[in-house]
Amino acid sequence: MITKFLSDSEQDIEVAAQILKNGGLVAFPTETVYGLGGNALEASASQAIYAAKGRPSDNPLIVHIADTASVYELATEVPETAKTLMEAFWPGPLTIILPKADIVPKETTGGLDTVAIRFPSHPAAMELIRRSGVYIAAPSANTSGRPSPTTAEHVKEDMDGRIDAIIDGGAVGIGIESTIVDLTSDIPTILRPGFITKKNLEDIIGEVRIDPAIIHPDPSLRPKAPGMKYTHYAPVGELTVVEKTDIAVPTDARFKDEDSAAVADMINDLYNKKKEEGSKVLILAPEEHCHFYNSKDTIAVGSIDSGITVAARLYAALRECDERGAEFIYSESFKDCEIGGAIMNRLLKAAGQRIIHV
Ligand code: TXA
Ligand code: MG
Repeated sequence: MITKFLSDSEQDIEVAAQILKNGGLVAFPTETVYGLGGNALEASASQAIYAAKGRPSDNPLIVHIADTASVYELATEVPETAKTLMEAFWPGPLTIILPKADIVPKETTGGLDTVAIRFPSHPAAMELIRRSGVYIAAPSANTSGRPSPTTAEHVKEDMDGRIDAIIDGGAVGIGIESTIVDLTSDIPTILRPGFITKKNLEDIIGEVRIDPAIIHPDPSLRPKAPGMKYTHYAPVGELTVVEKTDIAVPTDARFKDEDSAAVADMINDLYNKKKEEGSKVLILAPEEHCHFYNSKDTIAVGSIDSGITVAARLYAALRECDERGAEFIYSESFKDCEIGGAIMNRLLKAAGQRIIHV
């Protein structure tokens, strides 16, 4: 298959819209990550998405809409909490899970009776949904198991020759996938943390839970979002996170500096050991801490004062590790950033939960 490379101009989005109408697959930018889209109401399009990604077909797809009214066609029940959240956060990086209507094929929902619905705020995504007139089933546009794509080049690396077209809308803004909240349980439950936090949701709808299986990664707990159980986002090299153990003392600036130095010492020890063995090693750190490390083997991942900049760079940094042939990767922790919960969820998954406490 020859993949068409399109811009985000109106004419090009029209070309992409026709491809979707005819059952084809188009990758497109959203505000979170690039999606790999097909007609959500056509079982064959969803099957083609699974094939292109090499994704297990029990892992359901998110249905993207460009109009709140569409929810009432896709879901059989829309509780008040859903209406409140839609009003507050759509269009935007929030996916809600509701009982599915019959028009949504099981191929799209991985066999489940529920459907994940998202109204993205990226103008190219909205334009594509509106022009095509279809609801777009779209997982992240990476090969299954690789880091999600945050640029059209990342999509090309994974999908060239496997899909009909890629719309290039430049680098995305947020860089990690949407927050998923399940509204089919008694208490709304976060199945995947994201840019919209538990606190953001609770400010609007009251008590919200986090799926226990994603807080304490434990093989006996099965996450309710099937995708959360796969080792995901993983670079080829072995990634380990190095973190300071929390201690119950007031955190003033002096303690923080000592903590950073202790983490840096540990990372440098690990780095030196692997280097002596002749391995290719890379280090991930916020820009403020890069000076602790060998600069040619260190990748800056945003600023410690701004979790948003870390999220925006994280997946690109993991892909860069692959490009540079890293066999071992040591990363600082980002748990103290705002949206640290969402960032650490992705980073620890990429690390297969490998973490060293200093
Ligand atoms: O930001 C995003 O959400 C991106 C962009 C492209 O919109 N999409 C995305 O899709 O991250 P994907 O397929 O990579 O992740 C979807 C997650 C998976 O973990 C899947 O198991 C879960 O959503 N999911 C989808 N439908 C579900 C359902 N009915 N019940 C529980 N989990 C569901
Ligand atoms: Mg994904």
